[in-house]
Amino acid sequence: MAKLSLRNVQKTYAGNVTAVHGIDMEIADGEFIVIVGPSGCGKSTLLRMVAGLETISGGEVHIGDRVVNQLEPAERDIAMVFQNYALYPHMSVYDNMAYGLKIRGMAKAEIEQRVRHAAGILELAPMLERKPRQLSGGQRQRVAMGRAIVREPSVFLFDEPLSNLDAKLRVQMRLELKELHRRLRTTSLYVTHDQVEAMTLADRMMVLNGGRVEQIGTPLEVYSRPASTFVASFIGSPPMNLIPVTRNDLVSSNAGPQAQMRVLGADGQPTDATLGHLPMGLHLPEQALLGLRPEHVEPCAPEDAIAHIDVRVVEALGADSYAYGLLGGQQVVARLDGHAHVRAGERLPVTASADHLHFFDRETGKRIEA
Ligand SMILES: Nc1ncnc2c1ncn2[C@@H]1O[C@H](COP(=O)(O)OP(=O)(O)O)[C@@H](O)[C@H]1O
Ligand SMILES: [Mg+2]
Repeated sequence: MAKLSLRNVQKTYAGNVTAVHGIDMEIADGEFIVIVGPSGCGKSTLLRMVAGLETISGGEVHIGDRVVNQLEPAERDIAMVFQNYALYPHMSVYDNMAYGLKIRGMAKAEIEQRVRHAAGILELAPMLERKPRQLSGGQRQRVAMGRAIVREPSVFLFDEPLSNLDAKLRVQMRLELKELHRRLRTTSLYVTHDQVEAMTLADRMMVLNGGRVEQIGTPLEVYSRPASTFVASFIGSPPMNLIPVTRNDLVSSNAGPQAQMRVLGADGQPTDATLGHLPMGLHLPEQALLGLRPEHVEPCAPEDAIAHIDVRVVEALGADSYAYGLLGGQQVVARLDGHAHVRAGERLPVTASADHLHFFDRETGKRIEA
């Protein structure tokens, strides 16, 4: 077990492609960290630098109390699980798990003890004599995990380990990984492009965009206070609605001054659509992108509405329905109760509670504290 620290870690590939632009993060012993972002954002590069499979162009990687920049992968006390887990087809499950320990010269009794222990944790004990072809995809992935577990490393590194599995199996393996981490408490770095995996597995996640950190936080911190429009759009499905607005007159009411925002149309000009009754007083920015998650759009009585959605399409998914439409010419989606009676063509009055409104700078995309 070990803490892990990334200090201004950078990677520039030959040909001057800078894949990682200086990343800092302190990871506590036993934490499960998910590195999430779209394809090409530098996730694998960062992980491979920690593993020792790529040279580090700048900064330092510390594992435990050691700077490991110059250490070979085998000296770093890490174990890695990849998307392509590539088991040896001619070896049994037992030998696949034992192989790495054998070539390190570990005593046979110790190997057996570790393999049986890992097989117990992974529920592979009845399958130790089978060949990989006699296993399901999920079982094979568990053997790959077992190969990492028997090493008893200080740090686990995972690079999209579930991407090759079908959707149902991915959900099951996600639960198994969570359970595994609960038992072993090994510091883990887990790379994925899948925001659901990030939300469900992470103690904390690092959202990467173009080789830079957009935000680091617990899943709920990131979800409820996204640091940028990038994070707001990437984490959550359907993504957060982002509506360009400009500040309108302040109107006074019994509850004190209330602001109105005017929605900007696709051409950037103010439309007739206003968001009224915003109880945020004077803190509203002049110009902003207003963010509102689909589940925080609340249908309401016409007199309570802060805005209206001209509903175009309703998708009924059973438990929920998604109503897609236009608000002042801007595309928005509302997540409604599955039993809500909303039809295409309807004008839906909606409201939202003040603490569910997010504001972002229209130029930089950065969060504005309202
Ligand atoms: N060996 C390499 N040489 C040059 N560029 C690379 C190499 N490996 C990755 N890259 C580039 O670095 C960027 C990040 O890649 P990668 O870390 O694989 O992204 P991710 O894992 O997030 O999809 C991409 O632009 C990719 O094309
Ligand atoms: Mg990758």
